[in-house]
Amino acid sequence: MPLVCLTDFQAYAQEHLSKSTWDFIEGGADECFTRDENMAAFKKIRLRPRYLRDVQKVDTRTAVQGEEITAPIGIAPTGFHCLVWPDGEMSTARAAQAAGICYITSTYASCPFEDIAATAPRGLKWFQLYMQPDRQLNKQLVQRAESLGFKALVITVDAPKIGNRRRDFRNQLNLKMNLLLKDLHSPKERYSMPYFQMSPIDSSFCWNDLSWLQSISRLPIILKGILTKEDAELAVKHNVHGIIVSNHGGRQLDDVPASIDALTEVVAAVKGKMEVYLDGGIRTGNDVLKALALGAKCVFLGRPVLWGLAYKGEHGVEEVLNLIKNEFHTSMTLT
Ligand code: FNR
Repeated sequence: MPLVCLTDFQAYAQEHLSKSTWDFIEGGADECFTRDENMAAFKKIRLRPRYLRDVQKVDTRTAVQGEEITAPIGIAPTGFHCLVWPDGEMSTARAAQAAGICYITSTYASCPFEDIAATAPRGLKWFQLYMQPDRQLNKQLVQRAESLGFKALVITVDAPKIGNRRRDFRNQLNLKMNLLLKDLHSPKERYSMPYFQMSPIDSSFCWNDLSWLQSISRLPIILKGILTKEDAELAVKHNVHGIIVSNHGGRQLDDVPASIDALTEVVAAVKGKMEVYLDGGIRTGNDVLKALALGAKCVFLGRPVLWGLAYKGEHGVEEVLNLIKNEFHTSMTLT
């Protein structure tokens, strides 16, 4: 049977991935309230279609940070794609390039950044950075990303510590992760630190440190994980170039609002001074439309891309992207 919606890919992935990999992808923090709320909140929003307009030509193209993309849909950073498909992020990058959309590559990619850049040289790529406690290492990572052609730095702010992912604790996932984690200094070596003992971010990193980042790179800086107007105002004050409204797919702090519910206050607070994006719970073209109507310039998909990867690697991700792009085209046409 053909897979006709994103949740069909979810069912396929659940059936075919090992339990521990499935749990790692699907899991949220604590009781998974926010993870589920991300989807439920979209369902509370209704569309108000207007008719008798000429919709023969519908154009989904847009631009992010000045770069054109074929639709306001991109790939959120997720780590360890090799858990799901042998050449992991390289497949993801090629699919994103073919679809003409933006791929945010995670600090914890399981392929070397050099290989990811080389396999999709024309694709728009941003680099997601978990600030490491070693400043020099951050500088090396940022400059490496810049020289490889990544066009923006996405700084994840909601993970000074990893959230309580109960399923991963139960599965004692650290062993498998340990095998995949490459040494960030050199792609050839590996960390010896277990996943859960790793500090994913310099937990002392704060607003005043952004100027240091701005001094070592000319790439636009985008903060991922902002949920409040107060932090959005600080982002404006610190001259960053964009915000991704996100709760990390409900994997960090549980009981925070759904991303789509936090979007409006962030958009109002930045007053058009930077682009605002959203991730979390996007599963249909209508979800994309709702986020755009509430002020997002582009949305990003996390888990659905991994479901596509589990289905058929590069071609599975392409199918997922084309499916949601087509759904979004229909949503635009019918509203
Ligand atoms: C993530 N996310 C994430 N975020 C980030 O900034 N760096 C990362 O390395 C990861 N890794 C990661 C792994 C997995 C398996 C998942 C599911 C998520 C969070 C991700 O970027 C995004 O915020 C959410 O996945 C969006 O929600 P949906 O689309 O999964 O509902």
